Amino acid sequence: MTSSAEATATSTEPDIAERIAALGPWFHNMQLAGIWTAPEHFLGNYPWFKFERFRHLVPDDMTGLSVLDIGCNAGFYSIEMKRRGAALVVGVDSDERYLEQGRLAAGLSGLDIHFERMSVYDVASLRQRFDLVLFMGVLYHLRHPLLALDLLHEHVVGDRLLFQSMLRGSETVFPAAADYPFTEEAVLETEGFPRMLFIEHAYSSDPTNWWIPNQAGMEAMLRSAGFRIEGQADEVYLCRRAARPAMVEPPPAIVPLRRG
Ligand SMILES: C[S@@+](CC[C@H](N)C(=O)[O-])C[C@H]1O[C@@H](n2cnc3c(N)ncnc32)[C@H](O)[C@@H]1O
Repeated sequence: MTSSAEATATSTEPDIAERIAALGPWFHNMQLAGIWTAPEHFLGNYPWFKFERFRHLVPDDMTGLSVLDIGCNAGFYSIEMKRRGAALVVGVDSDERYLEQGRLAAGLSGLDIHFERMSVYDVASLRQRFDLVLFMGVLYHLRHPLLALDLLHEHVVGDRLLFQSMLRGSETVFPAAADYPFTEEAVLETEGFPRMLFIEHAYSSDPTNWWIPNQAGMEAMLRSAGFRIEGQADEVYLCRRAARPAMVEPPPAIVPLRRG
């Protein structure tokens, strides 16, 4: 296996192996000092194989750009962005153990990346907008997914959003009209009408998988939060910050976060 997420150090040192093992299990498979962190990953060489499918959406040269990676996990994407020359890369995650993995991976890779424990709901506290915000694989783990998208638009996305969600159901995108009469019900059952599935208990043995949109639902939510979709590869969307639709401006749910 080869990957640009390989650490620059190549020798396998026992203490590094112990540090990697002590921080396990790893969700990101990266080669650090010759050691793969998650060689038995249930998805394969994750997230490398996924990145191969959408890397064309990200500029090869990111010199001078600022990047925020929300739900960064062990920092695979943060590291890739820093390697492309990003001036500032901040990785945030709600799980301290993953952040420790990220600090080890970035350190062994000789890259200066700032990792901080933070929930997506608290991004206002960063008090900064970023040229590129990554929000990959987090939305469906949230009980309040649309609030999270609203907060990203309101507080941290300066220009682009690179977004990914698990999607299920139809890949058809039905062009929903601007309005329907109260008596119209059939259209709601149309294939490809925007939908979200609510998972009360667990999905894939994970009780944090709360909401799963279909493709139309995901695209509608991104637009509704003020993101214009400019590129797509599978479940990954490259969006540009745009004006919010008039009916959600100002978004009532986030008004309290504007204080203080
Ligand atoms: C499926 S992993 C995705 C990791 C990485 N972004 C990727 O695409 O490979 C979801 C990550 O989101 C983090 N997470 C879950 N809820 C979060 C929240 N409310 N705020 C920030 N991170 C969260 C988890 O700890 C985990 O690292």
